[in-house]
Amino acid sequence: MAFRRQIIRATLQNAKRNSLAQLARAGGRCLSTASPSLSAATADAPPQLPPFDHRPKPYKGPSAEEVLQKRKTYLGPSLFYYYQKPLNIVEGKMQYLYDENGKRYLDAFAGIVTVSAGHCHPEILKDIVEQSELLQHATTIYLHHAIADFAEGLAEKMPGNLKVVYFVNSGSEANELAMMMARLYTGNLEMISLRNGYHGGSSNTIGLTALNTWKYPIPQGEIHHVMNPDPYRGIFGSDAAGYAKDVEDHIAYGTSGRVAGFIAETIQGVGGAVELAPGYLKTVYDTVRKAGGVCIADEVQTGFGRTGSHYWGFETQGVIPDIVTMAKGIGNGLPLGAVVTTPEIASVMSQKIQFNTFGGNPVCSAGGLAVLRVLDKEKRQQHCAQVGTHLIGRLRDLKEKYEIIGDVRGRGLMVGVELVTDRKEKTPAKAETAVLFEQLRELGILVGKGGLHGNVFRIKPPMCFSKDDAVRSLKETHRYSEEERVLPRPASLSLSLGILPLTPYALFLPHIIPPSASESFFRSPLNKVQQPNNLGSDLHSQLKELIPEQQERLKKIRSDYGKVQLGNITTDMVIGGMRGMVGLLWETSLLDPEEGIRFRGLSIPECQKVLPAAQPDGEPLPEGLLWLLLTGKVPSKEQVNALSKELRDRAAVPDYAFKAIDALPVSAHPMTQFTTGVMALQVQSEFQKAYDQGIHKSKYWEPTFEDSLNLIARLPAVAAYVYRRIFKDGKIIPMDDSLDYGANFSHMLGFDDPKMHELMRLYVTIHSDHEGGNVSAHTGHLVASALSDPYLSFAAALNGLAGPLHGLANQEVLLWIKSVVEECGENISKDQLKDYVWKTLNSGKVVPGFGHGVLRKTDPRYMCQREFALKHLPKDPLFQLVSKLYDVVPPILTELGKVKNPWPNVDAHSGVLLNYYGLTEARYYTVLFGVSRSIGICSQLIWDRALGLPLERPKSVTMEWLENHCKKAAAA
Ligand code: MLT
Repeated sequence: MAFRRQIIRATLQNAKRNSLAQLARAGGRCLSTASPSLSAATADAPPQLPPFDHRPKPYKGPSAEEVLQKRKTYLGPSLFYYYQKPLNIVEGKMQYLYDENGKRYLDAFAGIVTVSAGHCHPEILKDIVEQSELLQHATTIYLHHAIADFAEGLAEKMPGNLKVVYFVNSGSEANELAMMMARLYTGNLEMISLRNGYHGGSSNTIGLTALNTWKYPIPQGEIHHVMNPDPYRGIFGSDAAGYAKDVEDHIAYGTSGRVAGFIAETIQGVGGAVELAPGYLKTVYDTVRKAGGVCIADEVQTGFGRTGSHYWGFETQGVIPDIVTMAKGIGNGLPLGAVVTTPEIASVMSQKIQFNTFGGNPVCSAGGLAVLRVLDKEKRQQHCAQVGTHLIGRLRDLKEKYEIIGDVRGRGLMVGVELVTDRKEKTPAKAETAVLFEQLRELGILVGKGGLHGNVFRIKPPMCFSKDDAVRSLKETHRYSEEERVLPRPASLSLSLGILPLTPYALFLPHIIPPSASESFFRSPLNKVQQPNNLGSDLHSQLKELIPEQQERLKKIRSDYGKVQLGNITTDMVIGGMRGMVGLLWETSLLDPEEGIRFRGLSIPECQKVLPAAQPDGEPLPEGLLWLLLTGKVPSKEQVNALSKELRDRAAVPDYAFKAIDALPVSAHPMTQFTTGVMALQVQSEFQKAYDQGIHKSKYWEPTFEDSLNLIARLPAVAAYVYRRIFKDGKIIPMDDSLDYGANFSHMLGFDDPKMHELMRLYVTIHSDHEGGNVSAHTGHLVASALSDPYLSFAAALNGLAGPLHGLANQEVLLWIKSVVEECGENISKDQLKDYVWKTLNSGKVVPGFGHGVLRKTDPRYMCQREFALKHLPKDPLFQLVSKLYDVVPPILTELGKVKNPWPNVDAHSGVLLNYYGLTEARYYTVLFGVSRSIGICSQLIWDRALGLPLERPKSVTMEWLENHCKKAAAA
């Protein structure tokens, strides 16, 4: 009690000193009234744990008091226990624990991050029991299949050549063995580990551990502790380079220059869920290997999918270690540890006897293998990603409200919440943490504590934290959430109020998130894209700078808004081509039904105004649009010029691509010939090469970028070849090094009128992208989601574009207009035109170029072509006919009452302009569209890879399913 009073007193004093005091006054109900219990803290009933279908067995054993006495008498004094009144936990089931009175607790610490699949998981238990009944132990001097099966299962989970497994009984043992291997393999002694790291408490690993609270004054071995790359407290923040340099310096100044190895946890466990600064391990592994050392990843806490994003923690840093150690989650509670390494390193252990009596015994191996199976079967990694992302997002929301929360960090279900009394100084809120810790236990929530000062809550529950729990508990705690939103409660001394939403909510609840400003995420205002752009004139290096920030942005959207509903899916949408269903992330453009397309937030007229042009008041250069789509920034003229040159430098088409086209009959549709050429270009795919060589997924975007730029650069030559092969003399017109992309395309086709160059620049710009849902873009995105390279993905997109309901409409319009002229002459009156339109409609055909799947107004792409025509060819009879159609068709389609959009789209105009400058072959028009569309599709594809967008795989249903589902819904 004295200790408790002390904490409370300290808490009160702190509260007076800082902002908490103010909050305490506001909250009114504080600990001064008596105990730190929930009832004292709030008049409201605490939220209940979600219902759980398990009845604990009546407990007949000794009481907590008796157990404590016996422990004190017979067990070592170093053992410590949580809570002033220690808990006597007598039963466990999945994510819950039960005390001697049958009270249920949410276990958010999993027996110190050890219970992975769930307490007493039935499937794992079954295998353990079956094996125990047959044979518990005989050790490895005899053969037994369990250890071999388990080793095989584990090795299959490892990347690279990490294929040899040693089994031990704990994490300390695993790290001992790893360190020994490192020293023997390299012939060096000195080891490097991180400050704030924990790697065990045995006499050797105590040297690796770098927290004074664990260190006894005994020889610590040849071990050096380097600066911790701690984004919250470290002096370089999240900048890995500074910390990595410290390792280099340390090796240079503090060692013989040669080291045995480096060991680190990717998210420090005991140290308080500190995630290493991104990119740190990559540089440090290189440095250590250069100094002769091996790299050891301590996966004792982070392994087996707990981080959600990856199966192993080291994968989050894009590295492959030489030795991996693991324990805890590997056994779901069985005493089990392992070291996995390469055959080469493992071979050093064969010089002497290296053996572990219990390591990998049949029971542990059977259990361990069952854990691997169950975690996969129950998709726990994905689950950790989902629940953890929500949890972290929710905790971050709380951080916005409660000053005491200094930092929320971690990944998946490996989370830390650091409490500070002062955000600026980051003073550890030790006493407050202690009080809260007690209160949480009273609420039935068991979390862990960590960090040197014990001021970090460690939330690392069993990985089976179910969605069901979340949904049901939402109902029970709804009242709390409502209250909290209406009247945010202070993080005062009634700290339970702060932590209340922090735990049952955040832990359980996919919470109803405040309405998102989703539109504003996608629509960047003009001033944003026009911000001065100081990132250099090279597109690749700009992207390299932009990608990490956008990756973080996407991560935050997922964590903050992952559960926000984006509309309701109806049966109509399922049957009706998914119209209006939000289902794709597409960064480069967004289509508004009323307003038309915006490229990175810029409308077409805005693009015409701000993107660099070849001549004053001229049309935008497509290279500028490519830059804008890729970076979200308006490029300077110099940047566009540099990109023009880069595209020219990349433009050489291999001869076999032309030969592949030549293999087709000249009569083949231009789109068939064009796509064949694109498929042939695929032979040079950098992505495919890199993938075959085992490139890490964090690097996918780089070869995708290479392929995309090469593809965009080469398309005009392939397209021009098709045109000249089919419609001209077959002679190739070489590229002109003085021309930009659009003008060069026109030139290679054989059109050198400067106005045609301008038209081609405009054409290529406006057809490039039309958000992600149109058939070509969506197809490219879908195929790319299976990691097909840009050539294969774009070829698939072209096949979609070649459909008459999509890009091919481009040719239909001109053919239809020509048929009007043929029948009625060029000077057709509006009335005659009306008749002709009705005739077309009555014959069961559509008027090509009118209507759109999304647009509900005149397509701005039509309008800008109209303006082009008004400026350059106002008297052209076909243009005048197009203008008349604009007057005549919409009223008729409206009268018909069937179409949602009677207005013209882009296709209604483009053919007439091309025709005017001599490109009269309408069958070819879709190829032009295809060249342009590569710019949008490839830009997004690079971002698909950079953002790590996953395989696209929507759910489909049968008609029977729909009937049953809808009937049930109607009856409910
Ligand atoms: C496009 O440019 O892709 C077409 O307008 C089709 C569409 O957006 O659905």
